[in-house]
Formats: sequence, structure tokens, C-alpha cells
Amino acid sequence: MSEELKRQAAAMALTQVQSGMQLGLGTGSTARHFVDLLGEKVAAGFECICVPTSEATARQAESLNIPLSDLDTLDRLDITIDGADEIDPQLNLIKGAGGALLREKIVAAASDLMIVIADSSKLVETLGRFPLPIEVNRFGLGATRRTVEAVCRAHGCAGEVRLRTTATGESYVTDGDHLILDAFFGRISQPEALSADLLDIAGVVQHGLFLNMCKKAYVAAPDGVRTLS
Ligand code: 5RP
Repeated sequence: MSEELKRQAAAMALTQVQSGMQLGLGTGSTARHFVDLLGEKVAAGFECICVPTSEATARQAESLNIPLSDLDTLDRLDITIDGADEIDPQLNLIKGAGGALLREKIVAAASDLMIVIADSSKLVETLGRFPLPIEVNRFGLGATRRTVEAVCRAHGCAGEVRLRTTATGESYVTDGDHLILDAFFGRISQPEALSADLLDIAGVVQHGLFLNMCKKAYVAAPDGVRTLS
């Protein structure tokens, strides 16, 4: 059911895409549906050029013969279509469960429009139920982690700040060769201030708060796909 809902949201986003567009391709199981559907269109002669937000999405797009480029070659993108872990009523997001938050944010920032696709389980009143991913440099991890913990505590984080690991217990490493700390807030009451304080920490590369970036979301529920904007 959930996969069907994700596909329905992806199909709605596809209606916004016109031939000749330059697109950002998100990462995750919902974005994967979009890439599949786009691949079908490309096979039927649809023209586009895309920038993937992860190695995984690049591999999927390549397997579907979707033309790829990068942000050195392309100046701006028309639309980025991506998933999210949480969506609040102002369309602020938490992203990064798939570990692609850095490239996702760079690609979204280079796009005229960011469209989020999700099922309705991602809707929240206040961000923070989902752990906030914070991408950090490997160098100085201990010092960075202590500072991140202090900042998160000051912003009301009641839970732990956990180094992300793989199923086999290794540190999870991002496409950019960084590590991820997941901060279990419960509730983030001042996301803008938290964002600024986290980015002030020398070892923090990026975090998964996407504030004022998403202008449209297609959210699928059993009774249909809602457009939020
Ligand atoms: C990856 C992401 C994903 O878009 C987010 O985790 C949602 O994934 P899914 O569609 O599988 O629920 O931010 O870094």
C-alpha cells in the first residue's frame, strides 16, 4: 500500500515536468518511483537532462538511460523532485534518512522549484519526531560531536545524538565521505535558530533541516493525492 501511495505522489510530480527541462533527481524509495516513471517517459522519447542527488540515484537513472549532468555544467535546474522524512504545515522538511542530505540540499538550492513527494505518514505539526541527520567531517569527530550535543541540548533535544551505523555496525559513510550524527529531538521549536547554530560548528558539513526550500508537495493518502503549497 505504502509503495502504491509513493508511486501515486511520484506520478503527480511527473505531470509538472515538461520536455526539455533540467531536473534534480532525489534519493530514497519515493524518489525512486519518480525516477522509474521518468525512465518510462524517456524511453518513449521525452527529453530532459538530470542531476542526481546520490550515487544510488545516478546508478538507477543510468540503468534507465536518463541523461545525466552535473552542477558544474548546468547553471540552474527547473525542478527538483525529492522525498522527505517529515513535512510541516509550512513545507519545512527534515531530510536525510537516506544519507543524501548534502547533495539533496545543493541540488534543491540550484533549482527554481523543489517539489516533495511523500505519503501522508510524513506530515507532522512540528518537526523533530524523526531524528535530525547532521552530516559531519570525519576529522575531529569527538570534538564536533560534543559541540553538536551541546547545541542540540540548548535547543531542547531530550534524546541522544547517535553516530549512524550500517546494519553490520560500521560507521555509515555518505557519498561525500562524511559521517552522520542523528539527533533525537522529539520536537524542534525554533528550526531557523537551530539551523544557524549547527552550521556555525566547524566540523558540521550540513544538516537535514530544509527550511523555506520546498514550495510544493504531493502527499498521497488512501483517499487521493493532496497538493500542498
Ligand atoms: C534521503 C532522503 C529521502 O528523500 C528521505 O529519507 C525520504 O525517503 P523515503 O522516500 O524512502 O521515505 O532525504 O537522504
